[in-house]
Amino acid sequence: MGKKKRTAILISGRGSNMRSLVEAARADDYPAEIVLVGSNRPNAAGVAWAVEHGLSTVVIDHKSYGSRADFERALQSALDSHGVELIALAGFMRLMTPEFVEHWRDRMINIHPSLLPSFKGLNTHEQAIAAGVKIAGCTVHYVRPEMDAGPIIAQAAVPVLSRDTADTLAARILKVEHRVYPAALRLVAAGKAACVDEKVIISSEVMETGGLFSPTI
Ligand code: GRF
Repeated sequence: MGKKKRTAILISGRGSNMRSLVEAARADDYPAEIVLVGSNRPNAAGVAWAVEHGLSTVVIDHKSYGSRADFERALQSALDSHGVELIALAGFMRLMTPEFVEHWRDRMINIHPSLLPSFKGLNTHEQAIAAGVKIAGCTVHYVRPEMDAGPIIAQAAVPVLSRDTADTLAARILKVEHRVYPAALRLVAAGKAACVDEKVIISSEVMETGGLFSPTI
């Protein structure tokens, strides 16, 4: 294995996806190393967990900055000082400027709890239930300036049950998120998820071993 990719995880809240990435990255053969956890919210529960577990953390409270660009300058300087090569957004609730996104083009990924391009934005699970879809899921994608858009790296499906509420559906999807995100970051960090014409090509080596996931239903 080559050198591990120095990866930052950006969060705004609970941080359960962050935990799944940190735990996966403990494996010797994992191609990403988590060198920084950043939050725009000082009280994010995920920050406390990261501190307890000895990770480097930085809180950049967006409320202390006059503009999105100023906030991003502070964030960029934290990323630079930790030599970050890849960013994984994990429940990070700030939109980034097109300049920041372009700077990190194909080096910044996000997880969203729907089968994109369906149900972008907030209240994703409510949207899925209101639409009456029978299959929901999650998506890991490269970040582009438009919200919840960008080349899809990995997706996984879960059934929507007739008794589901937004909360029960969210919980079922979250369990799958915790498997998909570490698998997707592994591909990206190993250089096995290339963007070609805005679609992700997974290296043949991965496909030949049966692909990433077996169906969950
Ligand atoms: C997850 O559902 C993620 O897909 C979405 O925000 C939620 C964050 O949860 N982007 P957590 O903070 O990772 O627990």
